[in-house]
Amino acid sequence: MSDVSSESPLAGRLKKIKPSPTLRITAEAARLKSEGVDIVSLAAGEPDFGVPEHVQEAAIASIRDGKSRYTPSAGIPELRKAIAQKLRTDNGLDYTPDEITVGCGAKNILFTLAQVLFDPKDEIVIPAPYWVTYPDQAFLNDARPLMIRTREADGFTVHPDVLRKAVGRKTKAIILNNPCNPTGAGYTREQLEQIAEIALECGAWIISDEIYEKIVYDDFEFVATASLSPQVKARTITVNGLSKSHAMTGWRMGYAAGPAEIIKAMTMVQSQNISNVTSTVQWASVAALTGDQSCLKEMVAAFQQRKDYVVQRLNGMEGIWCFEPKGAFYAFPRIAHYFAMVDADGNEYKDSTSLCEYLLKQALVSVIPGAAFGGDEYLRLSFATSMDQLKEGLDRIEQALSRLKPGPHYDNYQAHLEQKRF
Ligand SMILES: Cc1ncc(COP(=O)(O)O)c(C=O)c1O
Repeated sequence: MSDVSSESPLAGRLKKIKPSPTLRITAEAARLKSEGVDIVSLAAGEPDFGVPEHVQEAAIASIRDGKSRYTPSAGIPELRKAIAQKLRTDNGLDYTPDEITVGCGAKNILFTLAQVLFDPKDEIVIPAPYWVTYPDQAFLNDARPLMIRTREADGFTVHPDVLRKAVGRKTKAIILNNPCNPTGAGYTREQLEQIAEIALECGAWIISDEIYEKIVYDDFEFVATASLSPQVKARTITVNGLSKSHAMTGWRMGYAAGPAEIIKAMTMVQSQNISNVTSTVQWASVAALTGDQSCLKEMVAAFQQRKDYVVQRLNGMEGIWCFEPKGAFYAFPRIAHYFAMVDADGNEYKDSTSLCEYLLKQALVSVIPGAAFGGDEYLRLSFATSMDQLKEGLDRIEQALSRLKPGPHYDNYQAHLEQKRF
């Protein structure tokens, strides 16, 4: 008889899931804050704006009106109609209600989609740097994430040659995040067309995560992947939600639009899992999608101002290069210049994680290491906080970095990094 007591009760697939590398930094920042230490947090992944008043009112009204029962698993018809209208008006896309399903945030929608689309050993192409959740969701659904690098020189967008080399018989899906968390990359119509052509050639599905669609800067024009052509639409599942556009992160509303067969399967999984998104949230989401959108304009104007400031400050710092984001609310500066530098006590910093720990301890600023997103030469700074906090945080970072000096391994280490650079 086998010794059952020594065996882990946990399913084998969990072995591939790692605790988030960001957790240590975030937990340490929270601990310091709770002790009264004045931490500037540039780590947030959510807008620092309130939920629009009319959305709050709609939620309260739905409770008072007793709209508190189970709803259809795909979402109330009013909400699916509002989403269909949004896709038509904003993206020129025609979807019927049975081609739309609603879930508990885009994250839950992506997971449900993975459940219905991925078979064991399917390869899922994920451009790096990537949003942390994609690889783990692939693993949790027994598929294999296949990371492909994007380059600074291409504005962190997927180069068609790189994609062509990566795809093959096993490719089930390509995950596109436009605009991208963490890099801020945004795709032009031509770039999307090149990627879609490759996906169609190899029969891969395109999962287009467009959650940051509304938060875009300067002259960047967002194009929905599915809007490229009827052929592309037939192979694309569009994922979106209200977390970022309407600052509704805690409300948990996301949706997918795509071919009816896939949407029907997702709805079936949801019926055995969440049953439905909280009824109140659905009614509030109708108001968010159909009501006054001026709150969005104000939020994006504030983000634009902060983005300009943060990128200009970062690019003004010794040895740092920062891409000008096309969208989302993160700066993703390359900080590898400081790798193998040492502090006054002789401690050496060789990667983004240790450098983040240094910034937390010595500058009292929390940022996320690029390693968490598959880009160790970078840090992710969120500008979803006030200008005062941004200014203070960047001043502290600049001072702390200026105290680092090349250590004994500096030249060798930097040469090694240069060789590895894509
Ligand atoms: C790229 C990306 N996709 C999806 C999500 C998940 O959004 P939601 O809050 O709707 O689950 C996030 C949230 O951080 C994100 O950054």
